[in-house]
Amino acid sequence: MAIHVRSFTPGDRTRVARLWESCGLTRPWNDPYRDIDRKLDRDAELLLVGEAPASEAADGTTTTGRVVASVMAGYDGHRGWINYLAVDPDHRGEGHGRTMMEAAETRLLALGCPKVNLQVRTDNPDAVAFYELLGYSVDPVVSMGRRLISDG
Ligand SMILES: CC(C)(COP(=O)(O)OP(=O)(O)OC[C@H]1O[C@@H](n2cnc3c(N)ncnc32)[C@H](O)[C@@H]1OP(=O)(O)O)[C@@H](O)C(=O)NCCC(=O)NCCS
Repeated sequence: MAIHVRSFTPGDRTRVARLWESCGLTRPWNDPYRDIDRKLDRDAELLLVGEAPASEAADGTTTTGRVVASVMAGYDGHRGWINYLAVDPDHRGEGHGRTMMEAAETRLLALGCPKVNLQVRTDNPDAVAFYELLGYSVDPVVSMGRRLISDG
C-alpha cells in the first residue's frame, strides 16, 4: 500500500499526536499538541503526514484516508533537522518510513539545505539501524540541550 505524503492540516492534530504516542515518541516534558502548535507557527509546510488511501469494505462502506506516518522537518539556514518520524506500528516494514524521509529530504533540498541532522534517543538502536540503511551515519559529536520552556 502506497501512502500519499502531504503537509499537515488542522484536522490531523489529534491523529498525529496519538500516532506519536503509539510510537513512543512523546515524553512527559514534551506535550505533542504544543509541539504541533509551535511547528504550525514556523515552517508549517515541513510537518508532513503520510496518508493511507481510502478503502471500501465488503459491505460497501468507505473508509477515508487515514494518517499512518509523520515526519517533522526543519531548516535553520545551516542544517536541516528531522523530528517525529513515526510509522503506525500496524504499518511498519512497508516502506513508509523511507517514503517519509525521502519526502522530507526532497523538501529540504529544495530549500538549499546542504546536510540533514537528526537525534536518536540512546534507547532506540532500531532507529539507528533504520537511518543507517538510508545512508545516515553517526557523527562524532555530543548532542547537548537546555530546556527553555517546560511543557509539564
Ligand atoms: C523507524 C521507523 C520510522 C521505520 O519505519 P518503517 O516504515 O517500518 O521503515 P521502512 O519500512 O521504510 O524500512 C526502510 C528500511 O529500513 C529497514 N528497517 C526498518 N526498521 C528497521 C529496524 N528496526 N532495524 C533495522 N532495519 C530496519 C527496513 O528493513 C527497510 O530496509 P530495506 O529497504 O532494505 O528493505 C518505525 O519503526 C517507527 O516509527 N519507529 C518508532 C518511532 C521512531 O523510533 N522514530 C525515530 C525516532 S529518532
